[in-house]
Amino acid sequence: MAASRKTPTWLFAVTLIASLTTVIGPLLLLGMSERGLQLAARYTVRVSFPLFLLAYLARPLTTLWRSDVTRWLQRNRRYLGLNFALAHTIHLGALTSYFIYLGISPDAATLIGGGLAYALMFVMAATSNDRAVKTLGTNWRRIHSIGLHYLWFIFLITYMRRLSGGESGDITEDLFAVGVVGSALVFGALLVRLIAALKQRRQKAAA
Ligand code: HEM
Repeated sequence: MAASRKTPTWLFAVTLIASLTTVIGPLLLLGMSERGLQLAARYTVRVSFPLFLLAYLARPLTTLWRSDVTRWLQRNRRYLGLNFALAHTIHLGALTSYFIYLGISPDAATLIGGGLAYALMFVMAATSNDRAVKTLGTNWRRIHSIGLHYLWFIFLITYMRRLSGGESGDITEDLFAVGVVGSALVFGALLVRLIAALKQRRQKAAA
């Protein structure tokens, strides 16, 4: 299927450096403290989320606008997904350190909901290769579609929680605004996918 696909190693390097910076930066500025670890957990998502959006939108964007950029995104969709998995694994490391430092556990709903998201993400990463695509057949599509939309859902509820106002009293930034931008991007991404699916259906019907 994609035997000639060239691995964009530079992208993995950029993701790794950016993710580590979002961990090391707050810890250098604030020390190994509750606040430093909280910001590390928060900022790691600001690397993983754009990568998630690019992986989520690569195919629909190519359907809607054919250009060198969208073709590149489509060709490298697998690597965008793997880079998201890399950055989000660093989020997992940061949030685990945060909770260990506090000596508490996240609530059951977060553990179950977030844990399932991570389980699906790791399954998707482990099956992001030609051999798994061939072996799993139609199940491959099913697993990746469920995983992608479940992750979309967790992004949605996490950003929408910022809108409730309970978390907006942050000293350094307006978390309500972060919730507005995040939720708009998550909903906007779904809208783009729906428009692309509609266009594809019309093209099929016309053919
Ligand atoms: C058990 C699993 C998880 C736990 C315990 C957890 C915990 C955390 C923590 C402690 C923060 C920082 C909160 C703050 O700013 O005060 C955070 C931020 C965030 N997490 Fe996670 N997380 C988990 C899984 C996930 C997953 C699977 C996703 C997405 C699919 C996700 C998306 C986010 C987002 C969107 C933010 C906010 C980032 C921002 O403010 O820009 N998390 N998480």
